[in-house]
Amino acid sequence: MVIVKTIEALQEVQKKLSGAIGFVPTMGALHHGHLSLIQQARKENDHLIVSIFVNPTQFLEDEDLDAYPRKDAADIKICELAGVDILFMPTIDVMYEEDELCIGAPAIRGYVLEGEKRPGHFDGMLQIVMKLLNLSSATNAYFGKKDAQQLALITQMVKNYFMDVNIIACDIVRDENGLALSSRNVYLEGEEKQRALSLARSLKRATKLIMAGEKNVELIKKEMLLVLKDTDEVEYVAIVDREFNALERVEIGNTIILVAAWVGKPRLIDNIWI
Ligand code: PAF
Repeated sequence: MVIVKTIEALQEVQKKLSGAIGFVPTMGALHHGHLSLIQQARKENDHLIVSIFVNPTQFLEDEDLDAYPRKDAADIKICELAGVDILFMPTIDVMYEEDELCIGAPAIRGYVLEGEKRPGHFDGMLQIVMKLLNLSSATNAYFGKKDAQQLALITQMVKNYFMDVNIIACDIVRDENGLALSSRNVYLEGEEKQRALSLARSLKRATKLIMAGEKNVELIKKEMLLVLKDTDEVEYVAIVDREFNALERVEIGNTIILVAAWVGKPRLIDNIWI
């Protein structure tokens, strides 16, 4: 594995590549969720690039960028063992200059749910993903369904800007209790770990209702909120179509059910695709 930290070094090693390039962008603190993306990308491509970059522009002012978990030594080991060819670990000044030209999230889909709760987050996320996709020259880029709205917006960016890369959506990875894996789970303490399971339980409750024939979105959301009473604060429960338009009735094969809630220190998100 080669570790590169500058654009020039990345381009130098890339020159030697031929065939399909798989790319997994990350912010580090790698867990089994990342590992499953890396393993899928490894299987489906000739070459594999992973990036680790904690992107400042996608953090809001009141979100603690400095407290974001950083585990470079462990991450390098994981990438090495997973068969990564190129690990790109740039610094902020490699990725950004002053007074940049920015692309922004779309006015509607980019400003509901996560976009409404974290205004500006998706602008910064799309800005860095555009840069990383361009730099990686990826054939296939891998993103988790856990960040479903992020995935939808990246897919839209690639379409709207005629970018030549396949966006591959990968399934959510859960721990043995059903908790969706996230770098933020490390902040869960003691009994919070149990209470955090109510996000996944609320999605299970919704699925059960739908399997029993229920399609009414408002009714399903009410039932989910009962299960979510174990959290400290629910930010949203939403049932939308795959393009993030609101739904009145569940459409099998075209629905995503999402939840965001606080449990102790971390804000957790989870979803299920119906
Ligand atoms: O999902 C993430 O970890 C980040 O949003 C991404 C896609 C690496 C961009 O910084």
